[in-house]
Amino acid sequence: MSPDARGFKPLSTVLSRRCGSDPALQQLLEILADTCINVAERLQSSAFRRNTTIAGSQNSNGDLQKPLDLEADAIFETHLALLPNVAALVSEERDDVHWLKEPSAGDFIVCFDPLDGSSNIDVGMVVGSIFSVFRLEEDHQPYDLLSVLSGQNQIAAGYALYGPVTELVLGMGDWIDGYCYDPASGTFYRTHPDMTIATDAKEVAINAAREALWPSPIAQFIRDCFTPKLSGGRGANMRWTASMVADVHRILLRGGVFIYPEDREQNARLRLVYEANPIAFLMRSAGARATNGRDDILSLPVNDLHQKVGVVLGACDAVTYIQTQYEKA
Ligand code: AHG
Ligand code: MN
Ligand code: MN
Repeated sequence: MSPDARGFKPLSTVLSRRCGSDPALQQLLEILADTCINVAERLQSSAFRRNTTIAGSQNSNGDLQKPLDLEADAIFETHLALLPNVAALVSEERDDVHWLKEPSAGDFIVCFDPLDGSSNIDVGMVVGSIFSVFRLEEDHQPYDLLSVLSGQNQIAAGYALYGPVTELVLGMGDWIDGYCYDPASGTFYRTHPDMTIATDAKEVAINAAREALWPSPIAQFIRDCFTPKLSGGRGANMRWTASMVADVHRILLRGGVFIYPEDREQNARLRLVYEANPIAFLMRSAGARATNGRDDILSLPVNDLHQKVGVVLGACDAVTYIQTQYEKA
């Protein structure tokens, strides 16, 4: 029995309704889905090409690049360059904006983290891709681009998760759907329509190794989370996969909160443009919140393509509680 016969709708069917009046955006989202399938296939064959170690180069965040970081980046470029209306790409793996054509009104800009959690590759754990889409409203010069890339200007975003199943989560601001890839038919099918985050925080994702650097509102919240309910705490569980996509996906499905704070030395880890903003955009559609502790991620000005930002996202009650603690601190 094909997945279709079990009642799951293929991606193209869903998108033709979701993007009804915007066939160009539908085409772009379908190309991005194809890109992710191609990245998944490349990952699956990587062990036999001995390319999971470092490439010897660094990206502008100072991270060592792996061949697969660069290969995934090239796969995004190859697919997106097929479309005549994608004007530019912004990637974690490229220092600057990569222009594909002279920009004109109506063109798309696509920002992406081609491989998220790439330290997981060597140990066979989950990795992902993150992307977001902007549309140029008028003819922009390249130097205007940072204002265009504000999180509030995103018109679509998504992420893929390369785990036991290749999954895709897509949204356009007023909806968010989850899809699973069926290798037999080469098609994504919608398995999770209109995703909504559970309201209570049952699980917390945080890199506890950095506890000494946590600002006090985070330290206090985490202490409360890890205090058993019997003793008056939240009695939450902890999970950390070191791949934002995987940690966020689990929280979207099971409830909870993901935290990678700006630390006491004012350092953050995650990148605003191609990690935090797309995920915050998707989370908002699922009824969740995303802040840097104090302010909504989507409201933050973009000053640099690779700027880093603290991230507190997930169930509204927990994110709002932490925000209150920041305001008191
Ligand atoms: P990337 O592989 O794209 O550089 O992203 C890794 C990010 C994010 O996915 C994850 O949550 C975090 O870095 C892991 O940080 P730690 O190394 O501190 O665990
Ligand atoms: Mn990443
Ligand atoms: Mn990456």
